[in-house]
Amino acid sequence: MGDFVWGAATSAYQIEGGRFAGGKGESIWDRFSDSGRMPESGDVACDHYNRWEEDVALMAELGIDAYRFSIAWTRVLPDGRGTLNQAGLDFYDRLVDGLLTEGITPYPTLYHWDLPQALEDEGGWTNRATVDAFVEYAEAVVGRLGDRVTNWITHNEPWVATFLGHLEGVFAPGRQSWTDALAAGHHILLSHGRAVPALRAGGADRVGIALDCRVAFPASESTEDIAATRHFDGFRNRWFYDPVFGKGYPADMVAAYRDRGRFAGDTIPANRPGDLDEIAAPVDFLGLNYYTSIPISAARGDETEDTGVPAGPNPLEGHTEMGWPITPDALTAFLHRIDDEWSPSSIYITENGASYSTGVDANGRVPDQERIDYLDSHIAAVATARASGVPVDGYFVWSLLDNLEWVEGYRQRFGMIHVDHGTGTRTPKDSYHWYRDRIKESRR
Ligand code: FCB
Repeated sequence: MGDFVWGAATSAYQIEGGRFAGGKGESIWDRFSDSGRMPESGDVACDHYNRWEEDVALMAELGIDAYRFSIAWTRVLPDGRGTLNQAGLDFYDRLVDGLLTEGITPYPTLYHWDLPQALEDEGGWTNRATVDAFVEYAEAVVGRLGDRVTNWITHNEPWVATFLGHLEGVFAPGRQSWTDALAAGHHILLSHGRAVPALRAGGADRVGIALDCRVAFPASESTEDIAATRHFDGFRNRWFYDPVFGKGYPADMVAAYRDRGRFAGDTIPANRPGDLDEIAAPVDFLGLNYYTSIPISAARGDETEDTGVPAGPNPLEGHTEMGWPITPDALTAFLHRIDDEWSPSSIYITENGASYSTGVDANGRVPDQERIDYLDSHIAAVATARASGVPVDGYFVWSLLDNLEWVEGYRQRFGMIHVDHGTGTRTPKDSYHWYRDRIKESRR
């Protein structure tokens, strides 16, 4: 894996803290945590806002080529648009310089779900004006960092922001409406499509988007289960992959949503003539976030993520502590499918990793062998796809640090570096040392 890019990933709300530092505005996640809907808030998180130099030193020691992080819109434009906050931009400016000094390539993501609350108050992603605000934000950031940052990611996991945030209501902003979800998803896609040329105009060489997935397979060979799997795949995957890659919204899903009364008319109401062309702005790479796959049965329903963990003597066997089944082969299969169906010229695994709560032992070690096994099997799955010609060019572990796992709080630990959330102390886990060696070995 010669010129393969090895990296690690984080996101702003999950690690930065510094909620009120340097003129930062309020985001929908600040508001969501204040409303008591999370076990803990990201007010302090990993205190990366203050400890970023220590974190960059840990990355340098790890030997990664690239670091994927996200920029908090509310640091740059506290009200979402209008007045630029130089202190917020200064923070990312220093971070980027610190990374480059260590030879680590920055891969910033513009939107990892932390919409400015001021925009939410005006309808958030359901309001088409938020698309213009996003482009203004993208221009501001690339205007400041574009002379040094060449790789950019517009959005992280639009499915999550759209459906967990606007339909299921379990993520910020906590809305529960099909009308809102379909509008929000469309505007997120449109903002991606418009940001691509805006970033290029500001000097970006390579622009991509990080899409999530739930690889689905029928629980049985019955016609009903096969049909339910196709619908689930449309809801969970194709709804975003198809428009980004120029295929428009999947016709079977548009028909199904209309039949189920989620909108009236020929297409979803937010979709205006010309939008799909803008959404299909060619990207330089696809970021794929992969964690698990899911069996679908008609009885379980075709639009629910709720897999549950099977009962049994050891319910977590074969699952991470998120309850997610460990299925590396499905990653290889999905990479082949991406290549066949959407054909991006380049793919990066922008997130992959596992939650295990292994703590620091009496010798100061964190023996997280399960995480090593998970990462090893998934890197092998990527190598298999690559060996048969799928253009996978990099892999980012989620995550560099134990951090705020959204509504799960701090108890779910995805990091290669253990973080004591009382003191902020960082302790590299066994997986950190393993990954460092794995990267070295690949360069031999
Ligand atoms: C992804 C998110 C990331 C993290 C991992 C575990 O859906 O992009 O922020 O929470 O899951």
